[in-house]
Amino acid sequence: MHIYNNVSLRSYNTFGIDVKAHCLVECENVNDVEMIARQSGDGRKLVLGGGSNVLLMSDFDGIVICPKVKGCEIIDARGNEVIVRVGSGVVWDDFVAYAVAQGLYGVENLSGIPGNVGASPVQNVGAYGMEAGQSICRVEGYMMGTGERFALSGSDCRFGYRDSIFKHELKGMAIVTTVDFKLYKDAPVQLGYGPVKAAVESMGGVTLQNVRKAIIDIRNSKLPDPAVEGSAGSFFKNPEVDSSFANEIEQKNPNMPKYDLGNGMVKIPAGWLIEQSGWKGRVLGKAGVHDKQALVLVNKGGATGSDVMNVANEVSKSVYEKFGIRLEMEVCRID
Ligand code: EPU
Repeated sequence: MHIYNNVSLRSYNTFGIDVKAHCLVECENVNDVEMIARQSGDGRKLVLGGGSNVLLMSDFDGIVICPKVKGCEIIDARGNEVIVRVGSGVVWDDFVAYAVAQGLYGVENLSGIPGNVGASPVQNVGAYGMEAGQSICRVEGYMMGTGERFALSGSDCRFGYRDSIFKHELKGMAIVTTVDFKLYKDAPVQLGYGPVKAAVESMGGVTLQNVRKAIIDIRNSKLPDPAVEGSAGSFFKNPEVDSSFANEIEQKNPNMPKYDLGNGMVKIPAGWLIEQSGWKGRVLGKAGVHDKQALVLVNKGGATGSDVMNVANEVSKSVYEKFGIRLEMEVCRID
């Protein structure tokens, strides 16, 4: 276990916001997590994995806990199904690369997503028609304060769109140590989303490796280079509105992209709403809207959490005035 006092969190969050933590604890293994869960006291606590989905607003006066639990191994295989147990501190894309290299299907469309495995059940990370929650079959960890061990099945996690029990009843209370994924030796690939099919075909055929490569190429072409501009991926969720309201917007904007959710609701891409509201590529001070993907807010250098929130609020206001839709943040704001 490594403990640091009064430490900058700049390299611990992908937005690159430079605030300090009173105390930061890196837990190297499951025993460290259990100990810190039991002994961290009553003060404020924040679990930070890869820090790829947070906006830090100010210095954190409590303990920041970084689980660094390693390991990625097949623990069971029956017929077509293979269970892989992965430590919460494993870099998400290292796990996806492992699965693809082993010829296992189920997470290939989630290639290139930043962050650690421990955040995948919390946020139910998703991309290109696939969500982590579809493969997660067990999540283990410890409860903050009591140090009690928990083990949840996939359905216990109550996965929704960028949503899970860890954002509701267990919010701020659970430290994930391992996640089990049910993957398949053979399964249909999902190429239905946007330009994935064409990209895979242009690579000479449908293989797991080609799907992974196509997705990484598409992501790199749209998302900011982390070495140049900090960001936390999509800043807002794609709003879900009822289909009659979506039809009204579509009548005025025949080019509106949409996904029919089949329950009388329609998902409209927030990136499109933001672009139509004139914000793509706009900068306000030290933060702005990415010029290739308007759903991504970026740190243009030295931005504070307030600089980013200022852009977010202005963007939300414009979208509301133009379309009557309130955007909801996807990124977790930490005050
Ligand atoms: N669009 C625009 N202008 C923009 C951005 C997007 O018109 O500036 C349009 C695109 O043309 C497209 C549609 O909006 O028709 C969707 O865009 P895109 O495929 O880039 O995906 P998204 O809906 O903006 C979601 C996820 C991403 C995920 C991609 C790909 C959310 C909040 N975001 O973005 O996830 O990678 O789909 O599946 O659901 C993340 O959560 O951090 C994230 C990056």
